[in-house]
Amino acid sequence: MINHPAFVVEPWSVHETELQLDRLAQTESIFALGNGHIGLRGNLDEGEPAGLPGTYLAGFYEARPLPYAEAGYGFPEAGQVVINVTNGKLIRLLVEDEPLDIRYGELRSHERVLDLRAGVLRRKLEWVSPTGRAIRISSTRLVSLAQRAVAAIRYEVETLDGPTPVVVQSELVANEKPPVAESDPRAAAALASPLHSVYSGDRDSRVLLEHSTHASGLTMAAAMDHIVDGPPHVQASAESFEDIGRLLVSADLVPGKPLGLVKLLAYGWSAERSPPAILDQVAGALAEARHRGWEGLLTEQREYLDDFWERADVEIDGDAELQQAARFSLFHTLQAGARAERRAIAAKGLTGPGYDGHAFWDTETFVLPLLTYTVPPAARDALRWRRSTLELARARAGALGLKGAAFAWRTIRGQECSGYWPAGTGAFHVNADIADAVLRYQAASGDEEFAGAEGVELLVETARLWRSLGHHDDTGSFRIDGVTGPDEYSAIADNNVYTNLMAERNLRAAFDATRRHPQRAAELGVDEEEAASWRDAAQAMLIAFDEQRGVHAQAQSYTEHEVWDFAATSSAQYPLFLHFPYFDLYRKQVVKQADLVLALHLRGDAFSDEQKARDFAYYEQLTVRDSSLSACTQAVIAAEVGQLELAYDYFSEAALIDLDDIQHNARDGLHIASLAGTWIGAVAGFGGMRDHDGILSFNPRLPQALTRLAFRLCVRGRRLLVEVGHEQATYSLLRGSTLQIVHHGEQATVHAKRPVTRPIPAAPAVEKVSQPAGRAPRRRGGPSRSGA
Ligand code: BGC
Repeated sequence: MINHPAFVVEPWSVHETELQLDRLAQTESIFALGNGHIGLRGNLDEGEPAGLPGTYLAGFYEARPLPYAEAGYGFPEAGQVVINVTNGKLIRLLVEDEPLDIRYGELRSHERVLDLRAGVLRRKLEWVSPTGRAIRISSTRLVSLAQRAVAAIRYEVETLDGPTPVVVQSELVANEKPPVAESDPRAAAALASPLHSVYSGDRDSRVLLEHSTHASGLTMAAAMDHIVDGPPHVQASAESFEDIGRLLVSADLVPGKPLGLVKLLAYGWSAERSPPAILDQVAGALAEARHRGWEGLLTEQREYLDDFWERADVEIDGDAELQQAARFSLFHTLQAGARAERRAIAAKGLTGPGYDGHAFWDTETFVLPLLTYTVPPAARDALRWRRSTLELARARAGALGLKGAAFAWRTIRGQECSGYWPAGTGAFHVNADIADAVLRYQAASGDEEFAGAEGVELLVETARLWRSLGHHDDTGSFRIDGVTGPDEYSAIADNNVYTNLMAERNLRAAFDATRRHPQRAAELGVDEEEAASWRDAAQAMLIAFDEQRGVHAQAQSYTEHEVWDFAATSSAQYPLFLHFPYFDLYRKQVVKQADLVLALHLRGDAFSDEQKARDFAYYEQLTVRDSSLSACTQAVIAAEVGQLELAYDYFSEAALIDLDDIQHNARDGLHIASLAGTWIGAVAGFGGMRDHDGILSFNPRLPQALTRLAFRLCVRGRRLLVEVGHEQATYSLLRGSTLQIVHHGEQATVHAKRPVTRPIPAAPAVEKVSQPAGRAPRRRGGPSRSGA
């Protein structure tokens, strides 16, 4: 694991004090800004050097064929790849006649700060050009959370020694050259020149470029406008061509009189609207941004975030680095989903092209718990995005010979894009994960309108899928054979416990939904017999248990497989999927990511405490965490079974996954599920929060090093503050009149202005657990990342 001394530990920002070119791509992900609609990687203003240039629009992709060496019936034929769209971040600078490029001349200082409260990225640098001219640059960049289509940059250049002629070139550039292709399957299939020009034009300080994709038939427009304030005799002129538009601002600078430029950006796209309509949309957004002005945009951003932090902040006392990491995690999860508004929330958010910009179950299982309890409308919109893919999911189920809907395992628009069916199509659990997110959202928000419309549809169509995918065997048990659970080092197994338990809840909930919304159910063609068949399947669900070992089998016969030879596997051979064939991983006991352990969390109501401890210990020794979607779940269950120090280690890993580049691929984009998992680790781990069947319960307990944990939850219009210490926990209502909760098994009613304080019982005695050789999480409490 790498420890980077580059970020200073501060509670509300990520602060880099020097530029390290070898880590440029990672820091571009970390310093990415987004609002769920627009995503700007933290590329340097002048564009070069760059690790990976990136500007993304949620849902905007190019289609590409998925060629197979040996094709089979039902294999998806086309893939979808996120596109690096027109880059509006670019502000190049010519100092005398030397372009600012930090690889030349002398970089005296370079500092970047991601300010989590202001919602901006600030950069300051001092550079001496090869011809000896010293300048200072300050830039502040924001992607507006309040104005969905708008981003803006304030750029200021100042000469430090004597009169200096400069030219500031503010640009829009389409079809930037893609980086060299990588062999890691988690990286993206970069497309060369994915955009073709539809329109380009300029007027005064404004430029508009519009492009379409070749195959997916989408059209996007990017527009920029500027407000220049600077020394007298500044000259500005704009020009535009097919793939490039620029504003050139020339000035003669003298010390103490900087040249300032505010660049306003607007982005829009559509599959339906005409090119003129999209141009109008961005022109309108620009006019609105101009109307707000730079200060107005900053103020709105701050107000949006003040409100967010009031609803969502997680306070961690006793570990400053984790406090910073937790807020960083919350901020990026917000940026991924805040304004996605019925577009997919990708595994990398809009921070990089990894996984081709696809959304997975990551959204429903990891991101939506956080959004549900902190920004409920964003959770609703994400579920509405899934709902918008229902027709495609029905068609997919039909093609697979199944009923109901089979939602895509990985996609941007909704079509299945996984070319590897054992871990794509086979991973049917995504359907139950969607149902689970629906139930959580409905219970936490009380949104009856959603429940009666999209909610019923999603529950009914996924229940239909389960009913047709499984069958009652001779003994009457309901089996779901030949599917892949969360652990991608197993595939096409019978009765994966996680899948069966999640499907059981799905079937039961669909049955209940038809009782609560009989009319909508009838419109969907559900009759008594069908609903009863779901209830019966749920009641008869087979849960694989190994009597001999006294543990649940991840899937039937799993515990009889040979155990992976961990002793003979070197640390350089992880992640295993890059060094061993899947056929071998599949036939042995080795767990890529929490699977049965995730069932212990999400279906904790189906296990006894003793069983959880036994199952956790068993799967700990097999779990290698080759996926970032594991540590947070291990933290949650470790905390539940009383392994608090281990939970702390896992929690730290989830939280620091990108700041410390633990998986060595933060360059391709951040691991949004793991970042959201930081919230899960705090709230469900140390807070012990569960919401089975809509009942909110807490079993809080802290590891030694933490002195206090506080978090907030939005529940049915109320706001609950939970504060946890070592001895006791306090529940206060910040908004709303009363709320029923359960604390360590005891009911309590929290009233407004009457906080409830309860003692925390001692943790249960624990048995020692171990991990595969070399795969234990790094111990927390070692040297910190920064000297600050
Ligand atoms: C994990 C999947 C996950 C995907 C995207 C894979 O490595 O195994 O569970 O959905 O990454 O994050």
